[in-house]
Amino acid sequence: MPATVIVGTQWGDEGKGKLTDLLAKQVSMVVRYQGGHNAGHTIVVDGEKFALQLLPSGVLYPHVTPVIGNGVVVNAEELVREIDRVTARGIDCSRLKVSTNAHLILPYHAALDTLREHALGDALLGTTKNGIGPAYADKANRVGLRMQDLLDADSFAVKLRSAVAEKNAFLTSIYGADPIDADELIERYLTTVVPRVTPYVADCVALLHEALDAGEHVLLEGAQATFLDLDHGTYPYVTSSNPVAGGACVGAGIGPKSIDRVIGIAKAYCTRVGTGPFLTELSDEIGALIAERGHEFGTVTGRPRRVGWFDAVMLRQAVRLNGLDEVAITKLDILDTLDEVAVCVGYELDGRRLAYPPARTDEFARCLPVYERLPGWQVDLTKCTEPHDLPEAARRYLDFLESQVGVPVSFVGTGPGRDQFVHRVV
Ligand code: GDP
Ligand code: IMO
Ligand code: MG
Repeated sequence: MPATVIVGTQWGDEGKGKLTDLLAKQVSMVVRYQGGHNAGHTIVVDGEKFALQLLPSGVLYPHVTPVIGNGVVVNAEELVREIDRVTARGIDCSRLKVSTNAHLILPYHAALDTLREHALGDALLGTTKNGIGPAYADKANRVGLRMQDLLDADSFAVKLRSAVAEKNAFLTSIYGADPIDADELIERYLTTVVPRVTPYVADCVALLHEALDAGEHVLLEGAQATFLDLDHGTYPYVTSSNPVAGGACVGAGIGPKSIDRVIGIAKAYCTRVGTGPFLTELSDEIGALIAERGHEFGTVTGRPRRVGWFDAVMLRQAVRLNGLDEVAITKLDILDTLDEVAVCVGYELDGRRLAYPPARTDEFARCLPVYERLPGWQVDLTKCTEPHDLPEAARRYLDFLESQVGVPVSFVGTGPGRDQFVHRVV
């Protein structure tokens, strides 16, 4: 049985956690394939909120095997804390599997991330300072430590000592920071981390293929989003992994033919945390109203998210980059009070009209959004659960998005709760 990918199509926080949780009812395995604890995926069940960073969003269901794939970078201390937090709330995490090949985020990665951001001054990227970039850089440099290194205490100590020596040279001479105490770090890992995480370490490629061969349904849960993708996003204002659907093959260990459904997810408007171009950004009172109604503050960092109109040009590009079959539109209810909603339907660059973003980042930043305006609905959508519950103007907005983007809108979010959505038949 093939697999389904859920991928963010904007700059993150589209509601991937909620959609994954919704679809996880019918699957046996949910796999995170990239990113790390920079992600913050929210699920609201009976008014109770779970904000997951590393744990796959299927973890709330006892029938789901949650898998942290090889493409994820794992801060094992954070993982232990998250398992403890979630377990204390009555969720059983014992089924969790973490890939032998997932790379570790170690304390020097977060230190380097933070110091580099500081050194960049006004040119900072606005990272989560969780060490994501430095950990992926070590992976590419072939000097990273992996989950499987935790299985052999002696060799782990040797590898970590050598890594710390190299990183300390950087920390002290380039940034003038304090060195990391290798003995203390090794001791801490061997006593408090290794015994807690090694029971979860597994050959996740084998597990995934066994599930697929047995006809089970698997969900691949993206973190971050298409325009934070290292290759396809607004570089350098991106993350250091490949959230796009193709990244799911690499980060979970399956071929593209095993994926039969790719669901893109987008807010009914657009948000961005951190620096970088944002063509439809609203700096007026409408932006402030959407931010307030949408509680647009980062799940992980608490930073305010920048807010703007829906950008159909980006979505068209996301359809191409991910091979989207359909799109889920979330937070439609946040626009309930507006008398008019705008959608960016094209860009203008030096007098030319563009249907897709230009490939050059400097040109992208210079584009001007071209808007079409539609009437708002001014009806509370939070109780809508069927397509016919939606008011005419909201349906027109969704039909318009579909016509602009070129794929059907299959789900519509009408509130944060697990049951607050409309399933439109595709
Ligand atoms: P993710 O990172 O893509 O999983 O998204 P986040 O969890 O970071 O941010 C999405 C936020 O919107 C969370 O607070 C969700 O509870 C909330 N949310 C998701 N879908 C909806 C929706 O349809 N309506 C409303 N009002 N909130 C939603
Ligand atoms: P989810 O999965 C929104 C952003 C950061 C920063 C850039 C690089 O919840 O949608 P990093 O720490 O990854 O090196 O930061 O990426 N970013 C996110 N923005 N949602 C996320 O995850 C993000 N993960 C990273 O704000 O601009
Ligand atoms: Mg998030």
